Amino acid sequence: MMTRALRLGVNIDHVATVRNARGGAMPDPVRAAVLAEEAGADGITAHLREDRRHISDADIEGLMAALNGPLNFEMAATEEMQKIALRHKPHAVCIVPEKREERTTEGGLEVAREENQLAHYIAPLREAGCRVSIFIAADRRQIEAAHRIGAEVIELHTGAYCDAYAEGRMDACDEELRKLTDMAAFADDLGLEVHAGHGLTYDCVGPVAALPQVQELNIGHFIVGEAIFRGLTPAISEMRRIMEEARS
Ligand code: PXP
Repeated sequence: MMTRALRLGVNIDHVATVRNARGGAMPDPVRAAVLAEEAGADGITAHLREDRRHISDADIEGLMAALNGPLNFEMAATEEMQKIALRHKPHAVCIVPEKREERTTEGGLEVAREENQLAHYIAPLREAGCRVSIFIAADRRQIEAAHRIGAEVIELHTGAYCDAYAEGRMDACDEELRKLTDMAAFADDLGLEVHAGHGLTYDCVGPVAALPQVQELNIGHFIVGEAIFRGLTPAISEMRRIMEEARS
């Protein structure tokens, strides 16, 4: 198949995590997002969690006002978040599962089990012009369900692949990569746009970036961490370089 262009979405949630550790206004995630755009990010991702542990409502307002490019607004499928999304109408809305007690988004959304509710939930978002993406595991049942409810995009959860890589469990890593490879092709055949993300680093991004159907990678925690050592612009440039090298 034809290899599609690959975009980088930079998730700036953890700039807000650092800000919130002290309260106050610094460091400003909106400033980081504008700088990330200037550094070559194709879009910005932000997750407004129910408990507002990092990104705040004011950050979303600030991002909508300041960004030149698209905002990918990550949110749980709650009434409150739907209202916020419909007020701002970001370019994309990515529906993620959310548990209060989790440290990060641990798994993909159970679309197959909640198909009817989710179909009703995303309809007004689509009518408002948002591209609706569903964050799911590389699982055929979930992809089919995402397709049936009318999502335009799926984002494949790369967490299990990245964890296996980081822990040196190379058999498990190969197995997770095989699932991502097969399911990216399966989703693309259904006409879904394929994104991927969670836990990606310079060391493990290459094989995911090389999947020809994947059109966007959303990467946050590693880039924000790496920015401490080399600055945000070089951290993003290096991620892009590795992605592009893997793609070619
Ligand atoms: N994509 C989705 C849907 C996410 O929930 C997250 C984490 O918020 C990411 C991508 C980025 O993951 P990470 O911060 O580990 O790069």
